Amino acid sequence: RQRESQSLYQLTEKAADFYRNQLRAHPAAGRAIAYLRGRGLSGEIARDFGIGLAPPGWDNLLNELGDTAQNADLLEQAGLAIRRQDSDGNTKPGSRHHYDRFRNRIMFPIRDQRGRVIAFGGRVLGDDKPKYLNSPETPIFHKSRELYGLWEARQANRTLDRLIVVEGYMDVVALAQFGIRCAVATLGTACGEEHIQLAFRHTPELVFCFDGDQAGRTAAKRALEAALPHMQDGRSLRFLLLPEGEDPDTLVRQVGGERFQQMIDEQGRPLEDFLFDLLGEGINLQTMDGRARLSKLAAPLLDLLPAGVYRQLMFQQLAARTGLDKDTLQEVISAEKARAA
Ligand code: CTP
Ligand code: MN
Ligand code: MN
Ligand code: MN
Ligand code: MN
Repeated sequence: RQRESQSLYQLTEKAADFYRNQLRAHPAAGRAIAYLRGRGLSGEIARDFGIGLAPPGWDNLLNELGDTAQNADLLEQAGLAIRRQDSDGNTKPGSRHHYDRFRNRIMFPIRDQRGRVIAFGGRVLGDDKPKYLNSPETPIFHKSRELYGLWEARQANRTLDRLIVVEGYMDVVALAQFGIRCAVATLGTACGEEHIQLAFRHTPELVFCFDGDQAGRTAAKRALEAALPHMQDGRSLRFLLLPEGEDPDTLVRQVGGERFQQMIDEQGRPLEDFLFDLLGEGINLQTMDGRARLSKLAAPLLDLLPAGVYRQLMFQQLAARTGLDKDTLQEVISAEKARAA
């Protein structure tokens, strides 16, 4: 197992080198570079993130790294090659029976906390579908446990006062282009508890900055729930809600890095505001019914908070908003738990 992982790390590293070189040397590189330039990225930032090109064609990487059947199998294990199925639906052995997973795409290498390349995200150069393709789960890549850009952020900062959590590769890279070198992205998956724990291991403050669309708002709600169990004292969480239709990439290119930072400082909503705004949507707190509904919605969420001052303060907030005392809120929690069980 250990040996096998070693060779997978070596292979993904070589693949990253290959893709990077193709962005300089391949006849299709001109179009790829024009695409990156068109999105406002400099050569320096492309280098910092190791951005590359998977050229058009079915076997560029296989020809480079999958010369033997054994190496082709390793490429498959690394998520970089796919085995063809014959007409019976059986898979065939041997290198000629694989094809490259990533073709004609801009390649973003994904590094683990130690800086080792473990996977890739690939984007089409135009409007083809699917827009993004990611490595599958492999023995060295578990997407629920990795954050794109974390290693690069740690390289760029001696200490990380905060991490900005965004949705996409381009958001991370565009923010870096504008001097904000502390953004990380989940990898085509929801931001879950393992992502939150990983991020809080490196910084005391997270700022969630998801797209200004329905998917982004849904992502923010889920991230909130995933974060609550990990809000120990001394940690903080904020949400920057973007204007409809914008994402961090489009916004930072419009307003610049300084203004973007300023928006985080001035408009980033602290967890408590965000949570109560969200829960309070459509609830009239002037009515008894409204206050009862808010306590029923909020109490089980706040119950996810670990013991500490922060938990106490949040319950005080809820108490103030609903006019209920602590004992009553405790009863509400118990009742809701019993109902859910
Ligand atoms: N994503 C993915 N697979 C898809 C679509 C999206 O894995 N088919 C992930 C990618 O990590 C992507 C992120 O979700 O970066 C955000 O998706 P989206 O907002 O749709 O990407 P865009 O901002 O539209 O991408 P771009 O700016 O490159 O056009
Ligand atoms: Mn594993
Ligand atoms: Mn989106
Ligand atoms: Mn987006
Ligand atoms: Mn985008």
